[in-house]
Amino acid sequence: MDLKQKTEDGGDVFAGFCSRFKSFATEAIHVGQEPEQWKSMAVVPPISLSTTFKQHAPGNHAGFEYSRSGNPTRNCLENAVAALDGAKYSLALASGLAATVTITHMLKSGDGIVCMDDVYGGTNRYFQRIATELGLKVAFADCTKPELLKAALKPNTKLVWIETPTNPTMKVVDIRACSDLIHEHNKDIVVVVDNTFMSAYFQRPLALGADICMYSATKYMNGHSDVVMGLVSTNREDLNERLRFLQNALGGVPSPFDCFLVNRGLKTLHLRMERHFKNAMGAAKFLEADPRVERVIFPGLPSHPQHEVMKKQCTGCPGMITFYIKGNLEHASTFLSNLKIFAIAESLGGYESLAEHPAIMTHASVPEKERCLLGISDTLIRLSVGLEDEADIIEDLKQALAAAHPTKN
Ligand SMILES: Cc1ncc(COP(=O)(O)O)c(C=O)c1O
Repeated sequence: MDLKQKTEDGGDVFAGFCSRFKSFATEAIHVGQEPEQWKSMAVVPPISLSTTFKQHAPGNHAGFEYSRSGNPTRNCLENAVAALDGAKYSLALASGLAATVTITHMLKSGDGIVCMDDVYGGTNRYFQRIATELGLKVAFADCTKPELLKAALKPNTKLVWIETPTNPTMKVVDIRACSDLIHEHNKDIVVVVDNTFMSAYFQRPLALGADICMYSATKYMNGHSDVVMGLVSTNREDLNERLRFLQNALGGVPSPFDCFLVNRGLKTLHLRMERHFKNAMGAAKFLEADPRVERVIFPGLPSHPQHEVMKKQCTGCPGMITFYIKGNLEHASTFLSNLKIFAIAESLGGYESLAEHPAIMTHASVPEKERCLLGISDTLIRLSVGLEDEADIIEDLKQALAAAHPTKN
């Protein structure tokens, strides 16, 4: 591991992080995109809208039958994603949650799931309110504490769901340590890492011992806030076979047009993520030094409790920052309403800066008692720092803080 690695435009924000994955940009641009796969030799993969494909004779076809079970544009995307995840196989689904549902359908009634305690609200809602209704036993554990994870593993545990960094409190889980602990307990337990916040550019869960890496590709992987999609990668042939069966049998597949867009988004993933990191580091440092801010949670800062884990397992940090503004709900609300560059909106990972209030917006579906325990308070604000000019981003935060705290300026 090259601990001194720097990037041309990233300055020293990358210092101490793992070296970037070899040939990432080349693979993002070329794998799965070979012009030779098309009769036209198109350099940019065509959007193949046909739902059905002509067969030479019954059962004798050129690889495609019906678009739910397989589509040429989806194939291009899945091959590119597999390369970027360092995986043998990858599948595209209609949304991140469709990916979660498809993965969970590998289990049967009575099987157990252990889920990281702080996860995306929709994941929490699906496990607590739908999966349990189907007879699955769901337990939540803080996977940053190995002893709590270990205690949660039961003889019926079949799946462990890790999100790192978590949404929204940015806890960082040591993927290697957890995967080893889980697989030592029972090698058949499937370890899933939700890699949405990191993207394939900053973190490769499969190389750290996870069995499945999943994404809400709606976020960084697409990066343009114009597609809802999920992605799943694995190196295990048995899991790939089962997931491919479920992709077709459950039917939660994305449209060819969306596959085209995400495939295009991947071509600039490396460039986007480097800029997200640089801008977020600037914004996080500014917020940390501001007296109107109670606490900043950004894994790229040495003040983050798992900063060392982050450096050990990642090649950089995405644009996600959470912070507690001093005061109460009114201060948080005034801050958000006064932002000019940041839009108040759910979601994250696009080129544009977004800000949101997790307790009222993304995590409203998490029961209030649990929100309190997790630290999702009225003063918690989540930022998705975009690709605008760093100075403008900081200036926007500064003037919104001034509006929220007029007496402290
Ligand atoms: C970390 C994480 N996982 C999963 C999801 C669900 O993905 P989607 O909205 O694409 O269904 C989200 C959505 O915000 C998310 O942030």
